[in-house]
Amino acid sequence: MRKKIAAGNWKMNKTEAEAIDLATKVAGVTIPEDTVVILGVPAVYLSQVQKAVSGSPVKVAAQNCHQKLSGAFTGEISASMLSSMGIEYVILGHSERREYFAESDALLAEKTDTALGQGLKVIFCCGEPLPVREAENHVDYVKKQLENGLFHLDSSALENIIIAYEPIWAIGTGVTASQEQAQEMHHEIRTMLTDKYGAEVAGKMHILYGGSVKPDNASELFGEPDVDGGLVGGASLKSADFEAIIQA
Ligand code: PGA
Repeated sequence: MRKKIAAGNWKMNKTEAEAIDLATKVAGVTIPEDTVVILGVPAVYLSQVQKAVSGSPVKVAAQNCHQKLSGAFTGEISASMLSSMGIEYVILGHSERREYFAESDALLAEKTDTALGQGLKVIFCCGEPLPVREAENHVDYVKKQLENGLFHLDSSALENIIIAYEPIWAIGTGVTASQEQAQEMHHEIRTMLTDKYGAEVAGKMHILYGGSVKPDNASELFGEPDVDGGLVGGASLKSADFEAIIQA
């Protein structure tokens, strides 16, 4: 049985004091046994959030890392820095990184390799923009993202990958994919994984849904057979909302 995962993505939000406060509150939540909770926090707060959640089952994720391990890349953060801090997860390929920072599939493949090489687990994001959905090309679009970004990996590396399907038209918009739309795409992704890696590997992979997950829609989305939890932006910024999503 796959566990459920509730992952928060704080993006570029919170002051230091607010970050510690939110992490402390999430660490105090009673987490259902079959659920993994991950906080995707701004890099400057990783250490403090890690301290705030220590002793609780809550895990910490960085929101990005560089493809190289070290060097003259002013302002960047490397996978080796994260692993040296004991950070367990990194989010890669978020649509905001792809769009605003021009991160290509090829770059994300490189970043994924580097992160896995440092022992990090990768939350790998994919998802289509609205015109692609309207043209009904969403399955092919996501397939390309996964083929180019992930499918060079062998099946043992895949154990350290969580896929997050996040339709861009649903991110931060308040428009959520319907549970049927989410299930359709998650099923397609699992089929792609089955075709490439076989049913056993595909059956173990976690596929999260992201895009306006809220307390009032989380249960129905997470109730779908191929939806293994959520990557949550806005609603992860309020402890009460995120707690409700964890319980869902
Ligand atoms: P949202 O963001 O929940 O605010 O739509 C999700 C995400 O970007 O991961």
